[in-house]
Amino acid sequence: MKHDNYVIDDMISAKAIAARVESMAETITKEFEGTEKLVVIGLLRGSFMFIADLVRELDLPVEVDFLETSSYGDSMESSREVKILKDLRGEIKNRDILVVEDIIDTGHTLHHVINLLKSRQPSRMLVCALLDKPTRREVKVTADIVGFEIEDKFVVGYGIDYAQRNRNLPYIGAVRFTD
Ligand code: IMP
Ligand code: MG
Repeated sequence: MKHDNYVIDDMISAKAIAARVESMAETITKEFEGTEKLVVIGLLRGSFMFIADLVRELDLPVEVDFLETSSYGDSMESSREVKILKDLRGEIKNRDILVVEDIIDTGHTLHHVINLLKSRQPSRMLVCALLDKPTRREVKVTADIVGFEIEDKFVVGYGIDYAQRNRNLPYIGAVRFTD
């Protein structure tokens, strides 16, 4: 796809994403087998498409909630300071929770979110991320379930944006500047 000063190179097809989401959901279903209720927490806005597909594949009693943290703005660089822009609506104390993130980059966002949610004493918390760029990490943080490890490229699509654009692409592509 062609934009003003960049192109998007195909990276992960819609079909490959769907297959991986299905197998991640299987793992999560097994992990939380017997749960009274799993609160699935999507980090806005990048995870909206992933969480929508993921919950449809979960064979568990599920509630969905959302948390929004400050973003990169229009830049490609992490701000490193993480603020909560929108908090959860529900309580998570003594609940099983699953945190759903689109992509882990420097790790600052997830590190902050994990500490915040832990302080609310859920009974069990697992973290899943569709994409992980392990070579970019600045703070030590890992997801329990990762869809795809990718190299250090700025990606868009399947909910993930560059300056709010390209979230609606059904696949994941890498941004490449042409000037
Ligand atoms: P971190 O705090 O540096 O780990 O950044 C995490 C957040 O930055 C993710 O939830 C994304 O919203 C955003 N982000 C990180 N890498 C990319 C990328 O390659 N494309 C678009 N957004 C990204
Ligand atoms: Mg995000």
